[in-house]
Amino acid sequence: MSNSPSTPIRWPAEALWEALAPLLPGFTVEVLPEIDSTNTELMRRFRGSPTVEPRPEPLLLVAEQQTAGRGRLGRQWQSRRGDSLTFSLGLPLAPADWSGLSLVTGISVAESLEPFRSSQPSQTGKPRIGLKWPNDLWLSTPQGERKLAGILVETASWEGVRYVVIGIGINIRAVALDPAAPAPAVPGIPPGSLQDLLPGLDAPAVLLRIIPPLVQAVQAFERFGFAPFQARFAARDVLAGKAVQLSDGTTGTAHGAGENGALLVHTAAGMKEITSSEVSVRPVAAASAQGARPC
Ligand code: BTN
Repeated sequence: MSNSPSTPIRWPAEALWEALAPLLPGFTVEVLPEIDSTNTELMRRFRGSPTVEPRPEPLLLVAEQQTAGRGRLGRQWQSRRGDSLTFSLGLPLAPADWSGLSLVTGISVAESLEPFRSSQPSQTGKPRIGLKWPNDLWLSTPQGERKLAGILVETASWEGVRYVVIGIGINIRAVALDPAAPAPAVPGIPPGSLQDLLPGLDAPAVLLRIIPPLVQAVQAFERFGFAPFQARFAARDVLAGKAVQLSDGTTGTAHGAGENGALLVHTAAGMKEITSSEVSVRPVAAASAQGARPC
């Protein structure tokens, strides 16, 4: 696929609409050549303005290029036309408990790209696409672990309607990072590329593969919560058993996600449940993790 804006990218908008309209009444798909951020745009549309009514409709917004892509914790999300897939799915949602939605999103995307169920005897070992709590997909490569995709979940309310925007950025093809650009999502580690795992799969094909199962997973989460997804997260949990450090400086050993999607960390002060998406977690060298205990 060429990066030139004059080379059209063929997006499967009609096939997606046909697959999703029965699940999401009023659903539309929109592809923009450029926007600041698909998450920001969907929030703008949901909130409306003094002259435009808020629109809580289900909408998939794909951007071929984002000029101000956003990540968690105020970070930037860099992407390049044709080499990345950047989109947001906005829909009204009313789960009893919101915790774990970002994990469910990651599980669904990972399973669509690399089906793997540890309960099936034919599937041994670890899948190459792993999940790092709460919102990253990582790819295991011969050069080490690389960040493959990020998820940014945001919500807003209007007149009793709660609207969720699930933004996803996936690195489809490796790009040489611009030295003048901001640091990569994980400082010091070059991003991963999906084509290392699935050569030949381009951004439109990835979109068509991941969106219908993602909508089903989000609807299952709305009805049943995170608990039915817990084992599927565990099969790909890259932090499990590792020494980790939280952004508040606490260190410990990660023990997977609980029934509510919280990260369980065994610290010197006992088992801690991390629920805040404002907390960042990073693996540390085992020797430097004070308070870490063997599982
Ligand atoms: C992260 O890793 O911190 C989350 C990255 C999320 C990036 C996606 S790209 C599509 C959507 N629009 C944005 O501005 N961000 C999300």
